Order: sequence, then C-alpha cells, then structure tokens
Amino acid sequence: MIPPPVTDQREKTSSRFLIDGRRALRGVVEVSGSKNAALGAMAAALLTAEDCYIENVPDIGDVRFMSDVLRSLGAQVEWAAPGVLRINAARLHDFAPPSDLVSNLRGSFLVMGALLGRSGQAACAPPGGDVIGQRPIDVHLKGFEMLGARVWREEEKFVAEARELRGARIFLDYPSVLGTQNLVLAAVRARGRTTIINAACEPEVSALAEMLNRMGARIRGAGTHTIEVEGVDELRGAVHRNIPDRIEAGTFAIAAAITGGEVEVRGLRPDHLCSLVQKLREAGVQVEEGESWLRVRGERPLRAITVQALPYPGLATDLQAPMAALLTQAEGVSYVHERVFDNRLLYVAELRKMGAEVVTTGTTTAIITGPTPLLGTRVRALDVRAGAALILAGLVAHGRTEITDIYHVDRGYERIDEKLNALGAHVERVD
Ligand code: EPU
Repeated sequence: MIPPPVTDQREKTSSRFLIDGRRALRGVVEVSGSKNAALGAMAAALLTAEDCYIENVPDIGDVRFMSDVLRSLGAQVEWAAPGVLRINAARLHDFAPPSDLVSNLRGSFLVMGALLGRSGQAACAPPGGDVIGQRPIDVHLKGFEMLGARVWREEEKFVAEARELRGARIFLDYPSVLGTQNLVLAAVRARGRTTIINAACEPEVSALAEMLNRMGARIRGAGTHTIEVEGVDELRGAVHRNIPDRIEAGTFAIAAAITGGEVEVRGLRPDHLCSLVQKLREAGVQVEEGESWLRVRGERPLRAITVQALPYPGLATDLQAPMAALLTQAEGVSYVHERVFDNRLLYVAELRKMGAEVVTTGTTTAIITGPTPLLGTRVRALDVRAGAALILAGLVAHGRTEITDIYHVDRGYERIDEKLNALGAHVERVD
C-alpha cells in the first residue's frame, strides 16, 4: 500500500475543524509513534541497500512528505502493514531531492547527512517547516565540513561532497536536534572516530542512534551532550521500533487538564515527559504515572505558573503553545518564555481573538492573565503546534470554534479529531 501523494494546495487551504467546546474529556487514548523520530529513522534507511522496517510510524502529513522525498531519490517506501514502513534504498539514482518536496518539511534536510554517508554527495535546498523564527543550518553545514566534505551553495541548493569522510571532533555552536542527527548520519560511515560535543540530547536523537546501531553502526553517548561515533564500512537492513510521540502525549495530557476531565494517556514514555508532568502538577493538575501511561485529572482551580521552553530535558518548545492555552484557564498571572526559537508566539494573536488575556514582551515571552472564559470564533492554525494549542482552546471555549488551515495539524498529529472525539470531544472535520 503506497501512501497517498502530497496534499495538494486546495486541500491545504480548505480543511478546517469545527469544535463545540466545554465537554470534559474522559477515557483512554493511545499515543502514536513519534513524528520527528520517524523522520530520522526514514533518513537512516538511506544508508543501506537492504530493507529497513520501521514499526510504529504514524500516518501523518510529514511522513508522507518525507516518503516523497525518499522516493524522489530512488528509494522504495511503502506501508508493509499498518504502522510499518518498509524502505529500500538499493537503487538510489539521485542525490538531490527536488526543492518543492524538500520545502514541505524541515526534517527533509536529514537526507543531506544520510546521502553524504551513503555516497559522498548530497544536494538539498534549505528545508521548509514551521515559521517559528530564524532557523539557520550553519551547525549542519559546518559539521559536514569538519567531517571532510566540501560544502558550497549552487543556486538555491546546498551541495556537499566528500571523496572520503573523516572522523573529527566537532563542537556544536548550538545543540541543534536535526543538526546532531545529520552529523551522526554522516559520521557513521566516516573513517575513524567522530566526537560530537554539545550534541542535542533529545529522545529523537537517541532513537536515531538506536536504529543506526541496529544497522551495524557504532554510536555511544546518544542522549547525552557528547556522542562518539566509530565509523564502519557498511550498514545493513534492520527492524526498528519507533518511539512514542512525547509531544502528542503531552498534548492529550493538557487536553485532559484544560477540559477538567480525566484521561489515561497510554503507550508513552513517562521519562520523556518529566518536565511537563512537573509543570502540570505545579499548576494544580493531578497526574498519576505508570510504566507506560499517565492518568491526568484536570482539577479546578488551576494555578498560574512560569514555564520555560528549553532543550531536552527542559519543557519541549513543541509544548509551549499548548501550555499557554492551558494557562489561560489558570488563576493569576503566568509567564511563558520561549528559549529555543526566536519567534514562536505568533499563535498568541489567535488566542486573543478567542478572548484570552495574553500580552507579549518581545517575541519570546507571553504574559497570560487568567482565568478568562474563551469564546468560540474563527482562528487559523499557523503551524502544527500552534494548531494544537487552538484545538485545546476550542475544547474549553464557549460555543463553536472554527480552526482553518488544519493541514498543519495533520502534518504532525495522527487522526487527532477521531482520538479527541473518542474521549467525548466534539470535533468535526470539514474538507
Ligand atoms: N539553530 C542554529 N543553527 C543551526 C540549527 C539550529 O542556530 O544550524 C538554532 C535554531 O535557530 C533554534 C535552535 O537552534 O533557535 C533549535 O533548533 P533545532 O535545530 O534544535 O531545531 P530543529 O532540529 O530544526 C527539531 C524538531 C522541531 C523541534 C526542535 C526543538 C524535527 C523535524 N523538528 O527542529 O519540531 O521544535 O527540534 O526540539 O525534528 C515540531 O515538531 O513541531 C517541531 C518544530
């Protein structure tokens, strides 16, 4: 079964959600596989001519976009079973994916590292992705150069070429998640040892290392700020299980909290959500924790808190907007600081249209006074997590909320409307 083609422009602009709010969510919800870890695993499959099977892959927009990118290089990508992606990159015929495919998602840039590792040449336009601030790729490019590649710009594309990659000691100016992953993807085939210092330690980086090690790579230290990679001559096919999506899990936990409901979020890794759990508790939300689940009860009143989005294990920037939606319902003045991206508060204007009392100072701090009753109105999903925040706001709003441009949400959340409705929400998709 081949994933359907890239969402066309008409579909992109016309889909919307209609949400009738003020229903407390109750029940059990199962978390899907991680969006961002799936993209890393898909790129890793380019490093071998053998079959790779990736289990627990969500059927979401970004996975389809990434499938299109890999296919454009000559890889076969298909659903071998529901949730299981088979990728075979035996016959790659290109090392430069078309820019219009690359521009659909940020994760597409991971093909640079993988193709450099596989064949010593790669060319890729600057990747697309959410508009959440400047998103340079200097960390990736400098790292490729330190591994011995020549990197230059040719029209809109970055080109990297190396007769042989050589292991190196690389300090990252910033612990970029995709930057770290890209360098690991290239370094696994370099001659000798690569040490990445100030590496990102997000679970998606550890998951990529786990898949690559299964393929025969020798990577140690993933999940810490120092990663060591011993280059190997060849990688083989592997079966890899994708990690649960910590951001989707967090979004459902917040949905329970904001609606004053009680939801068991299953199939997650609580150790990936420590910071969120602590902040929810601080705000007065009851959270019980099991081996692979969280039970979340949204008590009232909620208390105002201060939240900072930071690199892992700090609170994920991808949960910053959802947390802000929750804090519109907390008593007092909450502060939300975005410390990863420089412009990720654009959703605030949309929350305000619903009656939220939020002001921003600069582009990285939001000050929220609550609780304010939210009123359903027409708002726009500006990116995947901003869209999630508006859904959360819609769930607690009086009347009907209409969210446009939900293709952003569909890029990152698998059947979010169906999952919420199974918990008692009323979310209608209108195409
Ligand atoms: N940065 C640099 N130079 C670089 C790369 C990044 O200065 O070369 C800076 C950025 O400007 C930003 C910060 O580093 O201020 C963090 O960016 P990072 O590179 O870590 O983010 P990313 O790798 O582009 C991934 C996720 C994002 C997630 C961030 C942070 C994927 C496909 N994307 O992006 O996910 O927010 O890490 O955890 O893995 C999302 O899923 O909604 C999403 C945006």
